[in-house]
Amino acid sequence: MKFSIKKTTWNADEAALKQVREAVFIKEQRVPAELEWDDQDQDSVHFLALDEANTPIGCIRLMPNGQISRLSVLEQHRNGGIGKALLLAASQEAKAMDMKEIFLHAQTHATSFYEAAGFTVTGGIFLEADIPHRQMFKQL
Ligand SMILES: CC(C)(COP(=O)(O)OP(=O)(O)OC[C@H]1O[C@@H](n2cnc3c(N)ncnc32)[C@H](O)[C@@H]1OP(=O)(O)O)[C@@H](O)C(=O)NCCC(=O)NCCS
Repeated sequence: MKFSIKKTTWNADEAALKQVREAVFIKEQRVPAELEWDDQDQDSVHFLALDEANTPIGCIRLMPNGQISRLSVLEQHRNGGIGKALLLAASQEAKAMDMKEIFLHAQTHATSFYEAAGFTVTGGIFLEADIPHRQMFKQL
């Protein structure tokens, strides 16, 4: 399937970003809404994945401290390279911003996905929104 990646801001695309994250994190993964929506969105760089009709199908954000988070792809669009492309876009943006290292909190089921993109696990398993996570980092 053809898709495109759009760099954006919370102000410009709040509704589209919310649509994807509501479907994936709040509905599918049962993350409480009060944990999903934090005070980082306004200051983050966001990327949206769009299908050929410009419908939002995935997203990711890069926070000012170098943390990548909220990577999500709608269930029916998975395994088509969209997650990988979003992660690459956020990593390239961090490099362009002269960040030396980026990190993320990976859900444990996804650590091999991030390892394939050059991230390394540091430390043990911890819970966020009741979901087991591990911290991972990548030197740029
Ligand atoms: C994790 C997620 C973003 C991956 O998105 P995706 O578009 O399906 O991933 P891609 O198609 O780009 O996958 C790239 C590669 O990783 C592999 N992969 C995909 N999901 C994986 C997973 N959960 N675990 C391990 N490998 C995975 C793919 O097989 C593919 O391998 P290949 O390059 O050898 O073909 C998506 O499954 C998702 O939104 N999950 C729910 C939300 C979530 O868990 N987000 C992560 C929070 S840390």
